[in-house]
Amino acid sequence: MKRTVARLLWLAAPLALAAPVLAAVTQARPPAGAPPGGNPLELKYSTPNAAHGAQLSASVCQKCHGPAGVSTDAGYPRLAGQVPDYTRFQLAAFRAKLRPSPVMQAVASHLSDQDIADLAAYFSAQAVGPAWKTQDAALRARGEALFLRGDPARNAIACAVCHGQSGRGVDHLGVASVTNQAPKYALDVLHEFKNAPGFGGIPQPEAMRIVLRPLGEDDLRALAAYISSMTP
Ligand code: HEC
Ligand code: HEC
Repeated sequence: MKRTVARLLWLAAPLALAAPVLAAVTQARPPAGAPPGGNPLELKYSTPNAAHGAQLSASVCQKCHGPAGVSTDAGYPRLAGQVPDYTRFQLAAFRAKLRPSPVMQAVASHLSDQDIADLAAYFSAQAVGPAWKTQDAALRARGEALFLRGDPARNAIACAVCHGQSGRGVDHLGVASVTNQAPKYALDVLHEFKNAPGFGGIPQPEAMRIVLRPLGEDDLRALAAYISSMTP
């Protein structure tokens, strides 16, 4: 499918929209005077029901994202093992038509706040699934070095600083898990972050854009090769 340049071109959206987005990212309360209807990224739900998430996954998500979110199509993201905060935020952003993707916007339009929380709880409890095969061991090794140690000579920060050495992310900070992420999807996403004009200072995606600044195409390929095959 054709991808738009920036997943968050929406961040160039009017300030009226940016403020609630920021509130959601920082998990603050929506600003006083928020538009009627509230902040589209602030979800209301009770204790998540992972069993209901499993049902939804099997009936709706599985045909693209694989059983239990373990995608075997390199272009479809793995959802298994993803931190729940990140999954909730992305589904809310698709539903609010803020994150581009005609397919996911249509899927998310049928989900309630509770469905989103149930799905996020379910996927976070699933094993990340097997590593993708990498053809090029040297490329992967280069990605591993960058991920774990960065490249101080180029001001390139180690990915592990935020994603953790295991790549499993940090739930309460909205840092995504990247472990065994689908390789083509991972590379596409790195391109999106890298080529985005800017995210208006919104911390989550902006962090990624800044981190990728000193890196070139070969680096991004190496990183995608590594993260897609982190854990056997
Ligand atoms: C028809 C195929 C299809 C179906 C069905 C589908 N998805 Fe997706 N999903 C995609 C594609 C393609 C993307 C990548 C979107 C992009 O960034 O361009 C995606 C992206 C996502 C993402 C973002 C992942 C990330 O790492 O940022 C989440 C979360 C997600 N889908 C959840 C779901 C859930 C939950 C369901 C079921 C309720 C579902 N999807 C059903 C195709 C699908
Ligand atoms: C300063 C903290 C930080 C560093 C360092 C960092 N990331 Fe991220 N990364 C994040 C955050 C936060 C997100 C979630 C962004 C969002 O909300 O869209 C993310 C998202 C991602 C995603 C998208 C996940 C998905 O499922 O769509 C990938 C892939 C990724 N990072 C890879 C990397 C790589 C490779 C590096 C090293 C070059 C790196 N990150 C360094 C904070 C960081």
